[in-house]
Amino acid sequence: MMQPSSLIDRDLKHIWHPCSQMKDYEIFRPLEVIAAKGSYIELQHGKKIIDAISSWWCKSLGHNHPRLKHALVQQMEKFEHVILANTTNETIVRLSERLCRLTKSLNKVFYASEGSSAIEIAMKMSLHARYIQGDHKRNIFIALENGYHGETLGALSISDIGIYRSPYTATLLETYFISPIPYVHSMHDDLWRNCDAYWEKIEKKLDAYAQTTTAVIVEPIVQGAGGMKLYSQDFLKRLRVWADHHNVHLIADEIMTGIGRTGKMLACDHAGIEPDFLCLSKGLTSGWLPLSAVLTKQSLFDLFYDDYETGKSFLHSHTYSGNALAASIAVEVLNIVEEEHLCLRAEEIGLLMYEYLKEIARETNKLKNIRQMGAIVAAELVGNQPNRRLGYDVYRKAVELGALLRPLGNTIYWLPPLTIDLATLHELKSMTEVAIQSVF
Ligand SMILES: Cc1ncc(COP(=O)(O)O)c(C=O)c1O
Repeated sequence: MMQPSSLIDRDLKHIWHPCSQMKDYEIFRPLEVIAAKGSYIELQHGKKIIDAISSWWCKSLGHNHPRLKHALVQQMEKFEHVILANTTNETIVRLSERLCRLTKSLNKVFYASEGSSAIEIAMKMSLHARYIQGDHKRNIFIALENGYHGETLGALSISDIGIYRSPYTATLLETYFISPIPYVHSMHDDLWRNCDAYWEKIEKKLDAYAQTTTAVIVEPIVQGAGGMKLYSQDFLKRLRVWADHHNVHLIADEIMTGIGRTGKMLACDHAGIEPDFLCLSKGLTSGWLPLSAVLTKQSLFDLFYDDYETGKSFLHSHTYSGNALAASIAVEVLNIVEEEHLCLRAEEIGLLMYEYLKEIARETNKLKNIRQMGAIVAAELVGNQPNRRLGYDVYRKAVELGALLRPLGNTIYWLPPLTIDLATLHELKSMTEVAIQSVF
């Protein structure tokens, strides 16, 4: 009699997993998830692993949060999803009001599902605004070296990570990448407060693009996929001033940093600046359902506001724009972050994680360039040997020990749920240390 195939075999027969070399699955099989709760993912045979990266940086309140489940069920009792063009409802209006209170100047919200769709929307709104104004010269973007904004073609154009971008270079939009970036290790570096030494050179290079650029896009303060690199808040401030001075829009991609991750509600708050377009996703629903939002200001909105026949309407649409289930969760996420003071908690656990990572570095001698911002810490593995994927080996070992790390190349980082308890963090420290020791 034929044996029934295992779930893993059935998976590998049909599923092309995201961000993966599928050949890797020959030796490191997909983990079979049974359940997830708080900071833990439960696997087959009762094994539990710590979600040390909040499942690609979105599970900011952990898994299966009872209040989020309650909000979802309450919305489900009313309706799940209704087209947002020409309709409205209490949930989406409440969410929009809440989001607009995150800044002083942004008072309009446009909804989508994925982070990259929000990026595409912000890029298109910027270009479209120029079109309406008859400013046809401004059609290039400025972005940061080593930045990342998603995988769709527009988002890839303004991303600077070769492995994701290279195959498509010939088709991408023109982008100028700023370098060098004044990177820091924490808020206590001098560069954090003053990046004069860098700015003089950067500004000269930027000036060459002042008349042809529609927008500068940044991941404020923390570059995620580029290796959890932190940069000076003074640099962000100066970019804002430069953009204002030259009539260039500033797009803040807070898809990873937004809603408390860096110890402030928005990473832009570290620099006390506000962008022209703000993109949010991931933590917005704490990873329950896909939802993204682009916030912008009245003056940009007004450019598009005219009789239909003038052709000024922003006719971008996604089927699930403003999905009510996702919106109901987002409202409750914002309630919880505020009521439980989770920005403060991000900073508190971040400082502890920083100490832990430094301890691991002392014990193993295998980590350098340790850095921390809010509830994000990162460091590079040292001693890489050709033909070895050290980060990947650490990842596999850590899973065996009970932690889902998934390093970025040789960058080891923790970005756990903001609600993670201290005992779990301590466990994570021990597991990471053993995993690192074991691969050398
Ligand atoms: C800063 C940033 N922007 C955009 C994206 C793209 O978001 P999504 O994967 O939801 O399309 C990501 C995803 O990791 C991100 O970190």
